[in-house]
Amino acid sequence: MNSISFAELEKSHFTNVFARNIIKIEYQEYKNRILKNDSELIESLFFGDIYIVKNAYKKKLLEKIRSELHEWGTKTKASYHEIKEGVPNFHRILDKDGKFYVSSKWHGYYFFNFNKDPWNIFNIAEEKYFLNQKIMGFNEKETFNNSPKDKYVTRVWIVQYPQGGGYIQAHDHSSDVFCLANIAIMSEKGKDYNNGGIYFIDENANKIFIDDQVEVGDLLVTYKRQVHGVDPVDPNIKTDWKSEKGRWVMMYGNVPTNNY
Ligand SMILES: [Fe+2]
Repeated sequence: MNSISFAELEKSHFTNVFARNIIKIEYQEYKNRILKNDSELIESLFFGDIYIVKNAYKKKLLEKIRSELHEWGTKTKASYHEIKEGVPNFHRILDKDGKFYVSSKWHGYYFFNFNKDPWNIFNIAEEKYFLNQKIMGFNEKETFNNSPKDKYVTRVWIVQYPQGGGYIQAHDHSSDVFCLANIAIMSEKGKDYNNGGIYFIDENANKIFIDDQVEVGDLLVTYKRQVHGVDPVDPNIKTDWKSEKGRWVMMYGNVPTNNY
């Protein structure tokens, strides 16, 4: 058991969380700190520090998955499915007026652990997922092998914010069961796109941009109450959904099924 937990901190602090320090840390050190139940790490995240965890994933592997997914995304029809029994892995294009809880424009790829996993995505993400369960104070495997019959399932979401203004409006994840955002970086600013990208809001309402400070393979970790958004990616270029360019990220989380 962690000596301090996010749940306890939430009981005694009701303030919003603003971006504080940006802290770079090697993956091995981040992992060791979680395994040692490091309370300082939990407090630091809770009070707004943003962690850039270096070398969490193999760069070449993420790039390979990205291009193969993109190919799948261009060759098969985009569709949307609720999380019910029989839900397939699918991909979905959302263009501003689509139905989503915040205004946004992206091409998202959805993967569930109970389906076939041709890209081995769950295998690649599982150590980070288990570490994240641990730091959140959850049982490591409690949701990982769930099915749509359960209340929550583990989902991987890979998103391309295309050139031509891929974006997501500022939001937070206060109501999510998952305490920490874990965002794996799959593209490079300056190469795959030039403008826009993720930001967090600091206490003076400034946007703190991050994409210039990260590389493919890094993992961005922040507390769920941290307000964030993605500023339009290369808004002056016309969107070509068949292009692999743009900003790509991978996230996993425990998400509610549509049975509840
Ligand atoms: Fe978000």
